[in-house]
Amino acid sequence: MREIKVAPSILSADFAALGEAVERLETAGADLVHCDVMDGTFVPLITFGSHMVEALRPHTRLPLDVHLMTINPWEKAEEFARAGADILTVHAEACGDRLGEALRHIRSLGVKSGVAVSPHTLVESVLPYAEDFDMLLVMSVVPGRGGQKLIEDTLKKAEKARDFFAKHGIVRDIEMDGGITEENVSAVTAAGVNVIVAGSAVFRSSDMKRTIARLRGE
Ligand code: DX5
Ligand code: ZN
Repeated sequence: MREIKVAPSILSADFAALGEAVERLETAGADLVHCDVMDGTFVPLITFGSHMVEALRPHTRLPLDVHLMTINPWEKAEEFARAGADILTVHAEACGDRLGEALRHIRSLGVKSGVAVSPHTLVESVLPYAEDFDMLLVMSVVPGRGGQKLIEDTLKKAEKARDFFAKHGIVRDIEMDGGITEENVSAVTAAGVNVIVAGSAVFRSSDMKRTIARLRGE
């Protein structure tokens, strides 16, 4: 069994105190900090950009896992890499036939590359790019906001990806994002997911440390 990592999403934190939020996450045992960047076009909401990533960087030693819900993500990749992102994940739907190019560009900046698939996108459409990404992000809700219910069908995509990577003898992180709770996380990891994103489950918890440990399967 692979090591399970927990990447709490600061989308559910108090936006007036995000520096403090990432410090709390580190103290509570998080493995990564998931930063949801929304541009108001790829998804309706606008959250924050590279300046926020740069501002958060000194507040934690944890890797910053930046989920770009933006159009033309390659245009901003360099500024996010400079700001201190450790992983930059782009949406397949935002890249079209420029996906391979976008992923290679991200790696050329010295950061890990990720590709995200929204619930309506077939995972088979991105697996041929496996040589160009370090992480696959399977969205288990429609991107755009926290607090939604996990769409169970999306677990099959993680299973397909896990089997594909095993068949080809390659190791890739599989992250799942959206609606993950202490109650359903075991089904998520059983499907091959090793990076758990959780926003509301972590920030609405009365005991963040315990919730993160439980999400990790401890
Ligand atoms: C949704 C974001 C998620 C979200 C997860 O578009 O990508 O990262 O914050 O939040 P929960 O865990 O509340 O579904
Ligand atoms: Zn996310």
